[in-house]
Amino acid sequence: MATTKAPEDAYTAAPFVPRHADLNALREAAAGCRGCPLHRDATQTVFGAGDTGARVMLVGEQPGDQEDRRGRPFVGPAGKLLDRALAEAGIDPGETYVTNAVKHFKFTRSGPGKRRIHKAPSLRETAACGPWLAAELMLVEPELIVVLGATAGKALLGSSFRVTEVRGTVLEEEIHGRRERLVPTVHPSSVLRADDRESAYQGLVSDLKVAGRALV
Ligand code: URA
Repeated sequence: MATTKAPEDAYTAAPFVPRHADLNALREAAAGCRGCPLHRDATQTVFGAGDTGARVMLVGEQPGDQEDRRGRPFVGPAGKLLDRALAEAGIDPGETYVTNAVKHFKFTRSGPGKRRIHKAPSLRETAACGPWLAAELMLVEPELIVVLGATAGKALLGSSFRVTEVRGTVLEEEIHGRRERLVPTVHPSSVLRADDRESAYQGLVSDLKVAGRALV
């Protein structure tokens, strides 16, 4: 019998998101999410980490190779760089909740060892995962959201988001019915790829300092 494929715009995590759940229940439910096809190749769902009392929510793109294997966000090279930049900007990691716009690792295989190479999620995959991010925002109610790069920006602020236009500024927007304050900056992976890594890193730290000042 021929199998029918769901159209991409029919992808959504919504039916998998339990109502009135705490973070642990959300995390457990997210482990079984089949809202888009990304779960098929990924090792596991990588849900947000931190607690509901966190003052700052950091939102990245999607888990990378190491995050996919270990089941926690930002534990690979980009995460290490982010931790260093946060410390330099005076933001205590203990005050943060860290998550991604998309909860499964998307990749292609390439090269002789068929290494897993990160592939950016599509807008539709990002939108499909949106109900998880909305549920995390509702529970954590952060004082400030740090938006790490374009995918997180588009997930939270719409497809016209351009990180270069708004990085290092404090934005105020209504998101899922709540007035949020956000500071966008570049994704830490872009710092690792930059020709001039030091100045890219200093740019990230300077944006995070804006976030730090917006908290006090
Ligand atoms: N990049 C992200 O956007 N998130 C992670 O968790 C790791 C790398």
